Amino acid sequence: MRGEIILKAKIISGKSLASDLREKMKNDIEELRKKEIIPGLAVILVGDDPASRTYVNAKIRACKETGIHSVIYERPADIREDELISLINQLNQEDTIHGILVQLPLPSHISELKIIETISPEKDVDGFHPINIGKMMIGQTGFLPCTPLGIIQLVKSKNIDLTGKHVVVIGRSNIVGKPVGQLFLKENATVTYCHSKTKDLINITRQADILIVAIGKAKIINKDYIKKGAIVIDVGVNRLSDGSLSGDVDFEQVSQIAGYITPVPGGVGPMTITMLLSNTLLAAKGKKIGCSREFD
Ligand code: GUN
Repeated sequence: MRGEIILKAKIISGKSLASDLREKMKNDIEELRKKEIIPGLAVILVGDDPASRTYVNAKIRACKETGIHSVIYERPADIREDELISLINQLNQEDTIHGILVQLPLPSHISELKIIETISPEKDVDGFHPINIGKMMIGQTGFLPCTPLGIIQLVKSKNIDLTGKHVVVIGRSNIVGKPVGQLFLKENATVTYCHSKTKDLINITRQADILIVAIGKAKIINKDYIKKGAIVIDVGVNRLSDGSLSGDVDFEQVSQIAGYITPVPGGVGPMTITMLLSNTLLAAKGKKIGCSREFD
């Protein structure tokens, strides 16, 4: 070998962790079945957005493989808001359904907030209801959003102590950016939020021990944004012109610098679905999870 040692990142495989967790869940579901409880998830898909359909199909498939009963409600893009609200109200009353998920985004004539607020907080397995978000903020038990929960578990699977670590989050969505920062704060990390209006982004990301990237633009984060040895979590899923998938992180470059990195596909995505299964299982058990939950 000549001269410089190139640091190659270790891969944090969401696919592998998700598979291990789902195997454990299968046993739990088997135990519940003996008590005549079959976890049930209702998935509502409005319109025919291909990406939403792909996500919903993946969720339904994962339910089937794990032993969770799932029902898909497909509705046309021009469904009225009040029709959607009455479907949710009906599902709120249905004893065989423990979790309700409305795939987002919704058509623009429907208020997403109104729809999310209609879902009973006890069945809100996405963790999007303002009551569950509020509980997360003050450390009370409630459903936690799936992608942030999956990210925390990915990092913890590498036995990394989060106390005092500088976590930089790029992206401030209600689904990923904002809640993931809260979960890391709960783990005693120091959290910095960045977004499209952040000045001198590169200077901030280079200080990150853990960098969470949820921007939605392919390969936008290259090696110049990364501190040597950092943990890089790529939430982006972008379709390239050749049909392949890429994250928001330039994997080839960044994996030369980072200590750990999640791939796309096979990183965060499988964990998001696994946390949905886990939340549905907990809903069926009638047990609420919270920020104090032990991540196993
Ligand atoms: N759209 C993109 N991600 C999600 C998600 O995690 N849940 C729902 N319901 N819709 C989404």
